[in-house]
Amino acid sequence: MSAMAAPAEAAASNRILEIRDLNLSLRDDHGWVQVLNDVSFSVRPNEILGMVGESGSGKSMTALSILRLHAKRDAQLSGQIQFDGHNLATASEGRMRRIRGRHVSMIFQEPMSALDPVFTVGEQIAETVRRHFGVSRKEAFERAVAALDSVGIASPRTCAGLYPMALSGGMRQRVMIAMALVCEPKLLLADEPTTALDVTIQAQIMDLLLELAQKTGTSVLLITHDLGLVAETCDRVITMYAGQIVEEGRVRDVISNPQHPYTAGLMRSIPDAHRPRGGLSSIAGRVPSFRNMPEGCRFRPRCEFVEAACSQTQRLTETGGHLVRCHRARQLSLEGAPA
Ligand SMILES: Nc1ncnc2c1ncn2[C@@H]1O[C@H](COP(=O)(O)OP(=O)(O)OP(=O)(O)O)[C@@H](O)[C@H]1O
Ligand code: SF4
Ligand SMILES: [Mg+2]
Repeated sequence: MSAMAAPAEAAASNRILEIRDLNLSLRDDHGWVQVLNDVSFSVRPNEILGMVGESGSGKSMTALSILRLHAKRDAQLSGQIQFDGHNLATASEGRMRRIRGRHVSMIFQEPMSALDPVFTVGEQIAETVRRHFGVSRKEAFERAVAALDSVGIASPRTCAGLYPMALSGGMRQRVMIAMALVCEPKLLLADEPTTALDVTIQAQIMDLLLELAQKTGTSVLLITHDLGLVAETCDRVITMYAGQIVEEGRVRDVISNPQHPYTAGLMRSIPDAHRPRGGLSSIAGRVPSFRNMPEGCRFRPRCEFVEAACSQTQRLTETGGHLVRCHRARQLSLEGAPA
């Protein structure tokens, strides 16, 4: 993996990325609404960090914030996103362009949203290489072909000459992976990278992605609804609920011994170790609207352990080796996923 400006500093802190008190507000037709609230976490070198939570909990917004990919006019970001000595929350657009795709890259749920229909896939990958390494067109194209080869595409040179529309969903996702990893970034943001694919090839593509990330020394933030996948592949996991982190810890501990009632609800959706990979089961009730958030604990309207003190602000604190946003965590004996 190629080094960036301050490897010693990153090694010293043992963090690739350090996010502190990230807040994000978005503007829609009804005005501004805060969708991320004091999100803090870090990513370590070579780790796969899982991020789970129901739809609308803020997982994609967290990833998009790291690369500042929201429409600028309609998004307000505050807090620290420390990456290689720079705060990406306030870095210039020029610096962000140098970072995107080179040092931090992203794989989206739907590859067509990231591929340009009017250029061949070879041209698109080569353009990423040229932009960041300044090599000749020929050299960049050869690297693109090698990248397509590395993701298991049988005729990479032919594929390089095709337009995205000519490819199957699985092929497009392989192209996305090739494009995301061609510059051997330090960090890959993988947002539901296989959800749009046929279930029979999901596991295959995910294995490929993680294998290549390991080869290139790339840390991965893996956003997924698939708790089985998290259990199999991640080192640590973060649970998000209503724009906040509610629990963070080592995967095995969080799965067998969740400390937050919401995480426990999610973990109950892994019925047994032999079940194939699957999605989240439903927890009674609905995620509250960002415009109508309950005071104190945001999970309060759905929590079977609620008491009066839950209407006070809950802070993320260390409990039983995890970080947990629930003052009752120590008293509760929650069940995790069945062994
Ligand atoms: N432009 C916008 N204006 C206002 N709110 C928005 C906008 N875009 C997204 N949101 C809201 O931000 C919240 C977080 O969305 P996000 O896409 O991060 O959820 P998610 O956890 O990735 O969900 P999913 O699992 O469905 O992908 C959602 O409630 C969504 O409605
Ligand atoms: S703070 Fe109260 S309502 Fe919230 S998760 Fe803990 S027990 Fe449930
Ligand atoms: Mg999402």
